[in-house]
Amino acid sequence: MTTRAEPRGPGNTSEPGSWTVKVRDGIVGLVPEGQALPDRQPVYVHSWIYVFGVATLAALAVVIVTGGILAIGGVAWWHVSSLGLFVNSLHLWSVELFFGFMVIHLWGKFWMAAWRGKLGLTWATCVICFLASLATAFTGYTITTNFNAQWIAFEAKDVMNAVALGSWINVTNLGQMVLIHVCMLPLAIVAVVAMHVLLVRKHGVVPPIDAIDPEADLTVASAPSHSSDSGSADASSTGATSGAVSS
Ligand code: HEM
Repeated sequence: MTTRAEPRGPGNTSEPGSWTVKVRDGIVGLVPEGQALPDRQPVYVHSWIYVFGVATLAALAVVIVTGGILAIGGVAWWHVSSLGLFVNSLHLWSVELFFGFMVIHLWGKFWMAAWRGKLGLTWATCVICFLASLATAFTGYTITTNFNAQWIAFEAKDVMNAVALGSWINVTNLGQMVLIHVCMLPLAIVAVVAMHVLLVRKHGVVPPIDAIDPEADLTVASAPSHSSDSGSADASSTGATSGAVSS
């Protein structure tokens, strides 16, 4: 006689060795319930400074799509055809926007001391993303295959030798630079950005310095999640994290 298997949910680890239960519990527990795609945010998120994080994400998406098209099209295509030149320009200008937004985002969060509470790792992943992006932009300039690229690569070669990295990283080796620029660094950036966004969803956005008690626990779980009609209220006048607005 066969018996029907009992449905299992998070926390129901009746089979302790089951890796599927562990993976499922891990995924479900990544962010608090309702925080994966929230439709309500604290009132202070109305400020413009909170826009630059998502603007950075949008620019990164354009950078990756245009970079992927360039990589498929190849050198002759992006140098000669008008469509190739256009996509090349889109890649360059989306990179400029990406850096512009990211720098404003970083400085904005720096002046808000965004590492307060439990947000230290969120801040660290943002800084790592910035440093990895610098390396990606540098390798991008060395693979444009023009005189500028040669100049930059040969200047940088001396720098690499001076800091003892020349044996591993040969900036004049086009194949190595293409692999690092098109594959390795973008994968690392996407992984760090994914971790950054998950941490933001898990712990919530950082409140302005004067909006809360500095000793308060800043995690989403501790913030009131009720809705309020006071969408225009400003955080400093309302006090702490009181109220939430539809995003
Ligand atoms: C954060 C991510 C990235 C940054 C900061 C970045 C930055 C750059 C920069 C500054 C250039 C030189 C542009 C020029 O002077 O015209 C470049 C070129 C290039 N990038 Fe990227 N890139 C990124 C991601 C990617 C990805 C994901 C791919 C492919 C999958 C890619 C493929 C290329 C190719 C093929 C070139 C050479 C074409 C050219 O001359 O512009 N990039 N990149």
